Amino acid sequence: MILLDELHAEHEVIERVAGALLTYANEPGAGRSAEDGAAFLRFFRLYGGHFHHAREEDTLFVALRDRAGLPADRGPIATMIADHVRMTDLLNEVEANLGAGAGGAARLPESAAAYVHALWHHIDAENSVLFPECGPRLRRNGVTELPSRPMAPDEREALSAGQALVARYPPPASPDMMRGEGCIMCPAFGVTCRGLELEWWNEWEWDEFEDRMNAG
Ligand SMILES: [Fe+2]
Ligand SMILES: [Fe+2]
Repeated sequence: MILLDELHAEHEVIERVAGALLTYANEPGAGRSAEDGAAFLRFFRLYGGHFHHAREEDTLFVALRDRAGLPADRGPIATMIADHVRMTDLLNEVEANLGAGAGGAARLPESAAAYVHALWHHIDAENSVLFPECGPRLRRNGVTELPSRPMAPDEREALSAGQALVARYPPPASPDMMRGEGCIMCPAFGVTCRGLELEWWNEWEWDEFEDRMNAG
């Protein structure tokens, strides 16, 4: 599905610009470019939020709810939407520290790390758990393609500025965060989401699973 491929490719760009934000935030406060700080905010708001998260919410998640009959008020979809909201708040904190003089400059590395780590966890959850389940589930319900849209001029501008930031602030080679496959790494697991199988599997998927276990 073209939309899923696009969203996947967008994750790679967003991950790299997030790494660049870590590098930027850990530069000595006095030498930090305010213009580049603003370009980071524009990238995450316009490309990450307005373009990427919005197509997940208004196209992919809506199709999962309306066409595949999956719950959107709990489980993985609700978790992903709650993440989007939380990441908006964390980015607002980064913005507050960008413009708050010496005190804000001292708090910037911590707030940038909180934002970037939340974003990486979120992308991990979508790449390793949510997206692989979407194609087959939608196809089983007769959905073979989902609409996408071209980038608006300001989103495209935010993207190229983001790519320039990656060149200027090379992301750390080995990110200081645990990453991994599956629900177990997700902060919502066991809190607001019982995991994909319990939330999404239907009766025959459980039957099939039990048959496979018995056969093995
Ligand atoms: Fe998302
Ligand atoms: Fe995403």
